[in-house]
Amino acid sequence: MLFKFSSLWLTATLCLATASDSVHSKAYRNPVLPGFHPDPSCTRVPEWDNTFFCATSSFNAVPGVPVFASKDLQNFRQIGNVITRESQLPGIANTNGSTSGIWAPSVRYHNGTFWVVTTLVYDHLPQNDPARWDNVIFKSTNPFDSSSWSDAVHFTFEGYDTSPFWDNDGKTYIVGSHAWQVRPMIQGFEIDADSAEIVGNIHDMWPGTGGIAPEAPHIFAKDNRYYLMIAEGGTGLNHMVTYARSQSMWGPYDPDPANPVLTNANTTQYFQTVGHADIFNDTAGNWWGVALSTRSGPEYIYYPMGRETVLTRAEWKEGQFPTFTPVRGQETGPLPAQNKQIGGTGNWAGQDDFLTFPPNSSLPIHFVHNRFPDPSAYTISPHGHLNTLRLSPSVLNLTSTDRRTAVTPQTFVGRRQEHVEFVFTVQLSFASQQDQAEAGVTVFLNQGQHFDLGVVTLTPQSAVQAGYIGKPANKSARYIRLRTITTNSTNQGASDPLSKPNTVLLEPGLHGSNSLQLQIEAVNRTTYAFRHETSRGWTTVGWGDSSQVSGGFVGTIIGLFATGNGANVSDPAYFSDFSYKGNHAVF
Ligand SMILES: *[C@@H]1O[C@H](CO)[C@@H](O)[C@H](O)[C@H]1NC(C)=O
Ligand SMILES: *[C@@H]1O[C@H](CO)[C@@H](O)[C@H](O)[C@H]1NC(C)=O
Ligand SMILES: *[C@@H]1O[C@H](CO)[C@@H](O)[C@H](O)[C@H]1NC(C)=O
Ligand SMILES: *[C@@H]1O[C@H](CO)[C@@H](O)[C@H](O)[C@H]1NC(C)=O
Ligand SMILES: *[C@@H]1O[C@H](CO)[C@@H](O)[C@H](O)[C@H]1NC(C)=O
Ligand SMILES: *[C@@H]1O[C@H](CO)[C@@H](O)[C@H](O)[C@H]1NC(C)=O
Ligand SMILES: *[C@@H]1O[C@H](CO)[C@@H](O)[C@H](O)[C@H]1NC(C)=O
Ligand SMILES: *[C@@H]1O[C@H](CO)[C@@H](O)[C@H](O)[C@H]1NC(C)=O
Ligand SMILES: *[C@@H]1O[C@H](CO)[C@@H](O)[C@H](O)[C@H]1NC(C)=O
Ligand SMILES: *[C@@H]1O[C@H](CO)[C@@H](O)[C@H](O)[C@H]1NC(C)=O
Repeated sequence: MLFKFSSLWLTATLCLATASDSVHSKAYRNPVLPGFHPDPSCTRVPEWDNTFFCATSSFNAVPGVPVFASKDLQNFRQIGNVITRESQLPGIANTNGSTSGIWAPSVRYHNGTFWVVTTLVYDHLPQNDPARWDNVIFKSTNPFDSSSWSDAVHFTFEGYDTSPFWDNDGKTYIVGSHAWQVRPMIQGFEIDADSAEIVGNIHDMWPGTGGIAPEAPHIFAKDNRYYLMIAEGGTGLNHMVTYARSQSMWGPYDPDPANPVLTNANTTQYFQTVGHADIFNDTAGNWWGVALSTRSGPEYIYYPMGRETVLTRAEWKEGQFPTFTPVRGQETGPLPAQNKQIGGTGNWAGQDDFLTFPPNSSLPIHFVHNRFPDPSAYTISPHGHLNTLRLSPSVLNLTSTDRRTAVTPQTFVGRRQEHVEFVFTVQLSFASQQDQAEAGVTVFLNQGQHFDLGVVTLTPQSAVQAGYIGKPANKSARYIRLRTITTNSTNQGASDPLSKPNTVLLEPGLHGSNSLQLQIEAVNRTTYAFRHETSRGWTTVGWGDSSQVSGGFVGTIIGLFATGNGANVSDPAYFSDFSYKGNHAVF
């Protein structure tokens, strides 16, 4: 098992950790939740042995809303997911566009119950259409058991980024961001804790300091004041965290003269777009902020992992606004002592994978699909194929239009890219004789932006159409095909106009079987290599430019797919030895 940090750094940390208690500063690296983990919310729960719990946005990824737990703010283990059953929130099946889906969960604990408040956004609808915003509450009394999360309880709010708060009066309040293109305003209201019915009026609280999209509000009561933490500037290079406070919950709110309190805007830092924060303290009384950030530099071109979760030191003196240490890759702070006593078997954030799909095992909880899967398309260790993951090809391929345009959804499963550089290798056995039957590996950002390396069966005519430039086979044959689907955000999900295929004939009878290895390597920040195994070793089929899978609200998933490219295919694909190894020395 490897962990996310370079061994040099780890050694340094361990030395410091043994030499110090929580008062002394320790070095740590950002991001603490690497990869597609945007819009973090974290809270410490004294009733659960002072464990820190965090949740992040998942958009159309299912299972949705990953939940992490940590005792030391250095090691975060995924302990579950909030959305695991289609019946909890069936609307995820009908979202349109990769920026739709689950936005910005807030996780809080109150009176024995964990709450996750979030919004299912239909982002293709205009902001003034009430159908765009489906605000929901999920509750659980044990987040280590994903099945304990309730079905969604819906409440009517024409906005997003909703977050709960309990005042001393015992009442439950929600703050949220009103549809900002209609009227930028942080609003708040009381709800009935059981029915989620809104009680009384929706109050205007604060419009922010003038940056676009005032959003991501959280409210805290401290020293006889209400502190409102928000994000402004949009989730790109101008992103920032601002504060205001009031003696009464509904205002008037006075902005912090020091705003913005946290931003990397207008800097040359590698970590950019810092914003959408949450704040909490540890048992020693130290305060911490989490926020999203992209490892993009100010160029903002290559950031395939999208918006990741960073941790930074805060101070919150009595009667004053909090202050934050600017986000950097290498930070120091008075971290709690190292403690990895977190239950469950889920991966630690940034952990590698080596999966052999043994009998009676399940897919790991950090594996995701695009929208709800057809469970029958995924079988572990089926009879006669021990230690494989069997995928039944879907009619739809990964480029197919959004929403369910066929009876069954796409067959696709994978894990987040969490490292700038990594090597991913998997063994594939796929023997379909049917034209266009295809199975392989992908770097998937969204339906309009992905690289697919597949084993595909093609007739001589299809091979020519697919751009095969060698001497065509005189009958149907198996090829290796790399396709780069790089539509941009204005036409995502529709078709693949920029596809630049590279198709090579597969050697017959490699190892005397239909089985071969496929590989994707992120050789550096900007470039992926796509390879397959031949009798001479690894052969590179083509390259991918990581800017082509950057942008939008999500991050890349390194995954497996199987499809008939528009047709039903009955022959399944068998994958085995799924190996993802991050380069833990490069970040
Ligand atoms: C806490 O929850 C219990 C039931 O779980 C309920 O009876 C009680 O009224 C709640 N207390 C508050 C302050 O909400
Ligand atoms: C998805 O949204 C786009 C507008 O962004 C619209 O043109 C398209 O028809 C929608 N697709 C479906 C299947 O609703
Ligand atoms: C960054 O600089 C631009 C141009 O001067 C300015 O408009 C913007 O407000 C600055 N952003 C932040 C967060 O300071
Ligand atoms: C942490 O913050 C909470 C909420 O403001 C406060 O009640 C508590 O006293 C703080 N704990 C420490 C150890 O400072
Ligand atoms: C798998 O589970 C079944 C039923 O629980 C059991 O009979 C079988 O022995 C298990 N197989 C392995 C390899 O553990
Ligand atoms: C097809 O190609 C194979 C080898 O490439 C050759 O042996 C065979 O005769 C060819 N068949 C026809 C019908 O051309
Ligand atoms: C995005 O694609 C559309 C349609 O293909 C094209 O008109 C537009 O110029 C592209 N934009 C960028 C930034 O490449
Ligand atoms: C990344 O690797 C590719 C392929 O080796 C190379 O062409 C490119 O210059 C490298 N880019 C950087 C930033 O190192
Ligand atoms: C996806 O499938 C459609 C048919 O449904 C086909 O026209 C298209 O070429 C395929 N493209 C990719 C990139 O998978
Ligand atoms: C695929 O098979 C299903 C079930 O038999 C059928 O409903 C569907 O129409 C088929 N799709 C295509 C594209 O042939």
